[in-house]
Amino acid sequence: MIRACCIGWPVTHVRSPLIHGFWLKRYGIDGAYGREAVEPGGVAAFLHGLGDRGLAGCNVTIPHKEAAFATMDEVDPGAVAVGAVNTVWLDGGRLVGMNSDVIGFLTNLDQQAPGWDREVDQALVLGAGGAARGIVHGLLSRGVPVVTLANRSLGKAEAIAAGHPRAVRPLAWQDLPKALGEADLLVNTTSLGMVGQPPLDLPLDGLKPSAIVSDIVYVPLETELLARAAARGHRTVEGLGMLLHQAVPGFARWFGVTPEVTPDLHAHLAANI
Ligand code: ATR
Repeated sequence: MIRACCIGWPVTHVRSPLIHGFWLKRYGIDGAYGREAVEPGGVAAFLHGLGDRGLAGCNVTIPHKEAAFATMDEVDPGAVAVGAVNTVWLDGGRLVGMNSDVIGFLTNLDQQAPGWDREVDQALVLGAGGAARGIVHGLLSRGVPVVTLANRSLGKAEAIAAGHPRAVRPLAWQDLPKALGEADLLVNTTSLGMVGQPPLDLPLDGLKPSAIVSDIVYVPLETELLARAAARGHRTVEGLGMLLHQAVPGFARWFGVTPEVTPDLHAHLAANI
């Protein structure tokens, strides 16, 4: 039996066992995917012990993605850009890591808003945490000329922008309404709108009718931001697809089958969120 897992602290809320469990059954693979609570400080030891634990690899979630990055023998360019790893596998005893959040975000956008990359001259990204760092990298890698990055703590947006002079423009949170009219794509990467958090209180009046509105929050499935955008007639991109697509590279490495993100998988997750 091939085994993999997700490590985090805490790890009880993690949805990836639902996704990998669905695919293991779908493809008739003799495998298992579990959750492992790993304390902060214990990440390097856990990852170096993957083989001894009988694990082919693992996903890594909050707060361990940066510590995992520092433990890898080899990483992909997306992980380097973000400084964080969420998917790990063993290759001849070497620890290899990637950041599949970037590819998950882009693949989801490709599916839910086909052709977006031909239309977007300017993207407006809200938030400047780890998720925003990856999304900014992904958007630039697909040729978006300008990304405006608005964050409550401006210094964090400035720090990301410093790595991409000219292409990324930091923006103070209070100036958001002024910048809205320039955006062809709006992406929320903050926790605002998530169950238990305040909603994203941003009037969309100034947004171009052609703008695409995307949210990486997936609990609830349709955030208040997406509901308001849909009511105004915008194309919307929900966050669950990103979660599903980011799971693909790990499953393919560990279990040897490249799985498909299908409507019944989406429905399975939606019913269990
Ligand atoms: P992740 O790694 O998932 O991006 P994170 O690093 O905790 O998570 O980032 C969360 C983001 O949500 C940050 O941009 C945060 O803004 P700050 O950098 O100012 O903390 C943003 N955020 C959280 N609560 C917010 C609020 N009430 N108003 C505005 N932004 C908020």
